[in-house]
Amino acid sequence: MTSDLHLTWHEHRVSREDRERLNGHRGCVIWLTGLSGSGKSTLANALDHLLLERGVRTVVLDGDNVRHGLNASPERLRETHGEEFARRFGLGFSAIDREENIRRIGAVAQLFCEAGIIALTAFISPYRIDRRRVRNSMREGDFIEVFVDTPLEVCERRDPKGLYKKARAGEIKHFTGIDDPYETPESPELVVKADGERTPQALAEDIIAYLVGRQILP
Ligand code: PPS
Repeated sequence: MTSDLHLTWHEHRVSREDRERLNGHRGCVIWLTGLSGSGKSTLANALDHLLLERGVRTVVLDGDNVRHGLNASPERLRETHGEEFARRFGLGFSAIDREENIRRIGAVAQLFCEAGIIALTAFISPYRIDRRRVRNSMREGDFIEVFVDTPLEVCERRDPKGLYKKARAGEIKHFTGIDDPYETPESPELVVKADGERTPQALAEDIIAYLVGRQILP
């Protein structure tokens, strides 16, 4: 495969199938999407722990953490890389910055997937088109969209970081669910209700059952 910059795609000697055989399971991306405070990170961690116990190789990519490094804010980058770099590559929460956030994360998750690893991603990823683009960039079946369906009222009541309170007070602008949109998935592979009725472990077990059913896990 070639591209416009005279770049050539190299096929590697060790294939994805070789790596999956070594790991004893297939690679995939489990894409958790939902409001801030919906329980994405808690679920990703519960799932990660259960998968570790089953000997499954995973990686967790999580909103706040990734925004400390790969997708750092302009403010953070200004200190280390200067003004122009920060302006061009730093990411905030405008629609276009969220788009680039999700594009980069999608590309990273795909690399893990191709290495035969199960990538668990926990990002609000509020726009359908951004999630669809990630899905379309991957092999059929690799992208498993999980809607963490927790009502806004529940997220706001939890308010673990006090961000909803600040958003309501107008101290944070463009906060998802308050003055910025969240586009509910139309046909996710799974919907989990993380409103507190069932434990994160029970929800994670449902996802594992799905992965076994799909023969991603033995
Ligand atoms: S996105 O929309 O997918 O690009 O967002 P994400 O990378 O997942 O980052 C979400 C976390 O950033 C904090 N935060 C905000 N969220 C939503 N809107 C605004 N304006 C905002 N500002 C900061 C918040 O802690 C989110 O963390 P979670 O874990 O989702 O609560």
